Amino acid sequence: MVSNIVLIGYMGSGKSSVGKYLATRLNKVFLDLDDYIEAKEGKKITDIFKDHGEVYFRKKEKQFLVECLKESDNTIISLGGGTPCFGDNMDVILRDKKSISVYLKTSISTLTDRLYDERAKRPLIAHANSVEALTEFIAKHLFERNIFYTKSEIIVATDNKEISSISEEIENAILRILNL
Ligand code: S3P
Repeated sequence: MVSNIVLIGYMGSGKSSVGKYLATRLNKVFLDLDDYIEAKEGKKITDIFKDHGEVYFRKKEKQFLVECLKESDNTIISLGGGTPCFGDNMDVILRDKKSISVYLKTSISTLTDRLYDERAKRPLIAHANSVEALTEFIAKHLFERNIFYTKSEIIVATDNKEISSISEEIENAILRILNL
């Protein structure tokens, strides 16, 4: 029986905001995989990247993804932007019978607007030192990642939409898929 919703999307696509809103509306628990990793490792994501490198981070991300999926019930799980794009993570998510996956699809320009001022907090985009450089990086990165993101069972476009209407679309799509 499906009881978890897994939110997928690029950094800045609104996974956490939508996830928290949905959790309150549907009376579910909210779990952010990045927060979970930070708690388990006792370090901020930026420090994990700095101290151990990305390969170590991806290994831990996989381990904790599997753990979260296994242990969660009645939960909205917000993944990191890269989670579905490494190893067989997306297949693991799709195979999980307790979870339904939702891709929050956001345009390159909206992502750039949201991420530019807070890029220092995100190790993968911290190097972009102009809006143009960030736009170009996101465009390429999103192109590579789309193949994974678009395997999601539900895809919701988020540009220019309120969190409440994104959440409503997700709820309706889930009801349709589950024939409720
Ligand atoms: C990453 C996204 C981040 C975090 C890490 C790597 C990525 O999560 O997991 O910095 O590869 O896109 P958010 O999408 O929650 O910012």
